[in-house]
Amino acid sequence: MLRIFLVCLFFYSNAVFAEGESPTIDKGEKLSHSCTMCHTFDKGGHNHFGPNLWNIAGSPVAHVDGYHFSDALGKMHDQTWTDGSLDHFLTNPQAFVPGTKMAFGGMKNADDRAAMIAWLHTLSDNPAPPKGN
Ligand code: HEC
Repeated sequence: MLRIFLVCLFFYSNAVFAEGESPTIDKGEKLSHSCTMCHTFDKGGHNHFGPNLWNIAGSPVAHVDGYHFSDALGKMHDQTWTDGSLDHFLTNPQAFVPGTKMAFGGMKNADDRAAMIAWLHTLSDNPAPPKGN
């Protein structure tokens, strides 16, 4: 199931990056409004309840300077936020990272998560399409 989802995500994002405009990315941006009470997404944006999320896709976990991460997330610093781990985390943060202080119930809809992750990929100086795994 996850594999099918990732293949779809890859397919979508290729189309997205080829054309530069995408309903998927637009949807992801709209969905990000459910995050902005705790996160900023702009480059150089300040940390809020949660860390700034510019360039999060493909970055090490808990890498943002000046933000005090929970021990649970801090321990994962040697890992990278892949599309797969972002998908798991956004589905249910507490289940994927027991002890995280991200008090967010999760996005239960796989299409919503795919759109969210596709949009997160655009938040970079060198946007690369989602790669899966
Ligand atoms: C109620 C506040 C809140 C909401 C809403 C929220 N987050 Fe978070 N988020 C946090 C906190 C706090 C952390 C730091 C968690 C920790 O240290 O355990 C975090 C961490 C993260 C991280 C890991 C950052 C890193 O540097 O490793 C990601 C990715 C993330 N959030 C994405 C999202 C997305 C996407 C949404 C919206 C769908 C969202 N969050 C909604 C509070 C929130």
